Order: sequence, then structure tokens, then C-alpha cells
Amino acid sequence: MTQSTGKTLLRGRILDFSQAPQDETDTEAYRYIEDGAILISQGQIEASGAYSTVAAQAQEAEVIDHRPHLLMPGFIDTHIHFPQVQVVASWGSQLLDWLNNYTFPEETRFADPAHSSEMAGHFYDLLTSHGTTTAVAYCSVHSASAEAYFEEAQRRNMCMIGGKVMMDRNAPDGLRDTPQSGYDDSKALIEKWHGTGRAHYAITPRFAITSTPEQMEMAGALVAEHPDCFVQTHLSENHDEIAFTRELYPDAPDYLGVYEKYDLLTPKMLLGHSIHLQPREIEVLAETQAKPVFCPTSNLFLGSGLFDDAGLRERGITNAIATDIGAGTSYSMLQTLNEGYKVLQLQNQKLHPLRAFDWITRGNAEALGMVDKIGTLAAGTDADIVVLNAHATPAMDLRMKRAESLSEELFILQILGDDRAIDAVYVAGAAQK
Ligand code: GUN
Ligand code: ZN
Repeated sequence: MTQSTGKTLLRGRILDFSQAPQDETDTEAYRYIEDGAILISQGQIEASGAYSTVAAQAQEAEVIDHRPHLLMPGFIDTHIHFPQVQVVASWGSQLLDWLNNYTFPEETRFADPAHSSEMAGHFYDLLTSHGTTTAVAYCSVHSASAEAYFEEAQRRNMCMIGGKVMMDRNAPDGLRDTPQSGYDDSKALIEKWHGTGRAHYAITPRFAITSTPEQMEMAGALVAEHPDCFVQTHLSENHDEIAFTRELYPDAPDYLGVYEKYDLLTPKMLLGHSIHLQPREIEVLAETQAKPVFCPTSNLFLGSGLFDDAGLRERGITNAIATDIGAGTSYSMLQTLNEGYKVLQLQNQKLHPLRAFDWITRGNAEALGMVDKIGTLAAGTDADIVVLNAHATPAMDLRMKRAESLSEELFILQILGDDRAIDAVYVAGAAQK
């Protein structure tokens, strides 16, 4: 990892988006330049556009020639569990058994700061090698895990969002806080990390099942006291989870009603999964502009169900997309799009590759309200950039010989691509590999 000094000029084909395109005819929505360039200065994009124009502004810059590869904004993963790096690929169960048998025991290890820091190193290496430059993560219940998560982000100058999970019931010893300690620990982490460097805090009641009403109330207090923080939790992922939630909160009209009651719903709230929704819940999502997060590899792996992307979007709801490691099965946002395409196929919905690549860049940035900083190649934004090679494997190379358009190339990346298709990554202008 080298910290860039001076200015850097990246040359290659460039692609970014200004809104979600329907297909390639929707040329207003995207910018594709065959001989393009991005000028980077002090970690930010100073200019991007045609090479001839941008190079004229950049006489003294170091030129890095990425031709014939494709330069895009770094990928954004809006839902991932940092303490689950050693849970991914655990066999045989659906959500609640998977949590109890594999996930909770593993997360208890993150009480140890040394374990947390060692895993943070691996976690960030995996993110960047898969082209992800921003993620929104759940840490474990222990402040030590969030400390390790934010320290490593700071060391790498990455724009990362996260929080310690609040969970005070239905979890084993060593993995519960209390309403008061969950509040105090979250507050201390917010004060230390929110707005430090490129970090943002997400207030994180894990889900209704693992929080008492008293803890939900404390989470609501944190949201009211820190309206500029993100909020994240899980919603309606699995039928047994929904039934248990209804038992625990019999007065709530439905699952989302629990979070609504404690005033957690804002446009800065991310709701992982949001699969099995009642009409009233969809109405509340539309009203509050809280953001459902589609986690296709996880939803298939745990057999959770099919996310209704088109149905929610028709109601004016903005959906994010994410890996959900460790129930998700790949760190790659390309593989996430691959499985997402198939989940939508099963519902007769279409995911065009241009919309897919908008989604994992600008679209997710929009869901986070951060388009002014990340998700595009616009001047003035942070220089988080991924370099994609659609010929990275023999199978991709062979298929590319028949590709005749940008959309076809993108679809090959979306279906066949993974970390091998990531040729280079820049975080705030610094090359990562
Ligand atoms: N619901 C509550 N916690 C989790 C988790 O860690 N993973 C998934 N997929 N769902 C959850
Ligand atoms: Zn999750």
C-alpha cells in the first residue's frame, strides 16, 4: 500500500452513473468513455472525462495506464458482518439454528482485542481484493470488535460505516450486553469514531429477537440523540424469525412495527433482508424512506426467500444490495449481482447489467445518502476506484470473444466475475494491490 503523493492520472475506459439506467438506450443515466482518464489529487478526484481533456490539466501527474481495463467507482457493500469471517460456509441450517449453532459461538471470540484486530486485517484485505471500498458492517456485541474495525479502517483511510451490535437476550453468555451498557458502549464509540477520518457510526440493535423492549428504547434514544448516525438491523428474513418476533412483541402490528414503535425508522436506516413483508410494512417503508437491503447470496444460502425488488421500487422505496457475509457466500459484489440476477429471474424480474453496476456503486451510495462522496467518478468525490478485467479467467476470456457491447461485457463480469476480475483498487487515491 502506497500513499499517493502529488497527482495521479489513471487512464482507461471509464464508466459511472448519474441515475439508475433501464438499459443501454438510457444514455442520460451513465457516462462511458472509451479513452478516459481520472485525475487524482490528495485522495480526491480532481477531474474525470476524456483522456485528451483531463491529461491537458495534468502535466505533472504520474500516469498509470490501465488500458484496456474498465475504471469504475469502488464497490459499496451495505450489509456485512465483520465477526463472521470464519462463519461463512457453515453447513445445513436456516437462520435461527445457523445463528445459535455457528454464528453466536464464533462472535464470542471477538471479546478479545487481539483476535478482533487480527480478523480486521483479514476482513479489509478481503474487501479490497474483491473491489469493495466502502462497507456497512455489524461488529460483535463487544466494543473491542468495533474498535478493531474502525482502527483498521483509519489505518487504510477507508470510508467505512459500522457499529457494535446491541443484544441483551436470546444469546449465549459472553454475547449479551444490557440496555444500559449497550447504550453507554454505543455512545462512547459514536463519540470516538463517528466523523473521525472517513468513519461513520451505525447504531445497531441486531434484531428484535435479541433486544428487550428496554434495549429498543435505549436504541431509540441513541437515534434521537445522534440523528446523523446510520441505523441498521434485520427485518423479515425468515418465517420462524417472524413468528418468534410476533411472540416477543405481541402488541406490535407486525415485525416492522417493533422498530417503528421505538422510533428507529429514518432515511438513514438500513433493514437487512426485508423479504416477507406485509402491505402495511411496505407502506411504512415508503413513508419513512428506510432502506431495505437485498442480500441474495445469503437469502439463497439460508433458504430465506426471494426479495421483491421491483415491487418495492414501484412503491418509491430505494433498495440497497449487499453480501451479508457470513450467511452470504461471497465477498464479491459481482457474485452478489450474479445471485441477485437469479433471485429476480425466479420472480420474472429483470436486472440489466447497467442497472446492476449502478446499484453496487452510485445506487448503494444513494441509499446511504453519500453520493457527494462515494459511488461515482465525479470531480470532488473521494478517489475510491476499481479496475475491472473482463478477461480475467479462461472462461471469461473465451466468452468475451463474442461480446459486442459494454452491456455484454458488464454482464460477463456480473455472472462470471469475482476477485480475479479485480485488476487494481484505489482507496482515497492510494493503490491497494
Ligand atoms: N439476523 C440477526 N442476526 C443475523 C445475522 O448475523 N445474519 C443474518 N443473515 N441474519 C441475522
Ligand atoms: Zn445480517
